[in-house]
Amino acid sequence: MAGVAYRAALCRCGQSKNKPFCDNSHLKAGFEDYGAVGEKGDGIDADGGKLTIKSVPNGPLVLSGNFAIIASSGRVAWQGKQAALCRCGHSKNKPFCDGSHNDAGFEAD
Ligand code: FES
Repeated sequence: MAGVAYRAALCRCGQSKNKPFCDNSHLKAGFEDYGAVGEKGDGIDADGGKLTIKSVPNGPLVLSGNFAIIASSGRVAWQGKQAALCRCGHSKNKPFCDGSHNDAGFEAD
């Protein structure tokens, strides 16, 4: 993918002390997820541009802009312009939020 200039590892387990970024706390927490992305997304019109990441208090990260989710194999697993990503570790549709943070009592700024 020619337009990729930045990458970030975002916390998915809810345990990072440096949210929204991963600090490897998932290892100590025993978080396990095989990382499959079941959807391909709506696609993007162009590479690059402004990416906005907003954290919803006690909920997901909402990303807006052209972005891709890249599998550990390097394959583009998902592309789109907006998504709510789970950061509590409880979604049944990871990496996307399915509202499970409410029942889990997830708390984060
Ligand atoms: S943030 Fe995990 S389900 Fe919403």
